Amino acid sequence: MTDADGHFSKQVAERYDDAQGPQFQKEVIEQTVDLLAELAGDGRALELGIGTGRIALPLARRGVPVHGIDMSRAMVDRMRAKPGGERIGVSIGDFAGTTVDTTADGPFSLAYLVFNTIMNLTSQEAQVACFRNAAEHLAPGGCFVVEVLVPELRKIPAGQNIVPFRTGPREWAYTVYDTVTQDATCHYIEIAEDGHGEARTIPFRYVWPAELDLMAQLAGLRLRDRWDGWTRLPFTEDSAQHVSVWEKPIS
Ligand SMILES: C[S@@+](CC[C@H](N)C(=O)[O-])C[C@H]1O[C@@H](n2cnc3c(N)ncnc32)[C@H](O)[C@@H]1O
Repeated sequence: MTDADGHFSKQVAERYDDAQGPQFQKEVIEQTVDLLAELAGDGRALELGIGTGRIALPLARRGVPVHGIDMSRAMVDRMRAKPGGERIGVSIGDFAGTTVDTTADGPFSLAYLVFNTIMNLTSQEAQVACFRNAAEHLAPGGCFVVEVLVPELRKIPAGQNIVPFRTGPREWAYTVYDTVTQDATCHYIEIAEDGHGEARTIPFRYVWPAELDLMAQLAGLRLRDRWDGWTRLPFTEDSAQHVSVWEKPIS
């Protein structure tokens, strides 16, 4: 069940920052912010899916003015409760189509969409619209950055369509792939100490690097860099994820 907050309800938002994954490690956040601050230069940054401000808050502390778009008021409320959160402007809505008024402050030098969040858009049409929306907010020479997994189809054994990715004693999670539609539906199941259980399902759409390049092209952007991650190691055939930067041409 989802409401206007989408899959990031109050209950999810309350626990979001307790996650233990690499994205929440100080070093990874610093590497992310280093690259984003460099790309933003003297301009402003627009975060699509700003969430609880995991990246927006440290980026703002570096002196980059940040504005966010997010459909989940619950996630944004968590950011607002953190130091500096009240100073970050947020537009509530779908980042595939929400327009931020740039009349007063001018267009952005950077738009970014991290932590696989492009996959929250579950159709190719919506992902294309997202690229167009990001591009429309950029000044000429500005960049759009996406951090996302390389689709994990090599993990699918012949004749199967399910890949488990969490197998603890009380916690299981797996993805069900549809290689025709590119749907990747994740199921999360948790059993608490008292025996009560919780199950959640989140639909995603996996998307190939080359497909993203075509989306960028449709939006008038061109690929500037693609790395294996925030440390800027080269992207190779063995890369499990990528950080890609597309640029809006100056003329
Ligand atoms: C995985 S969280 C990432 C939050 C933050 N960017 C980070 O890196 O920690 C995804 C965020 O994107 C938001 N989101 C997902 N799909 C969205 C959409 N179509 N429009 C607006 N926000 C969306 C969710 O509400 C959530 O806050």
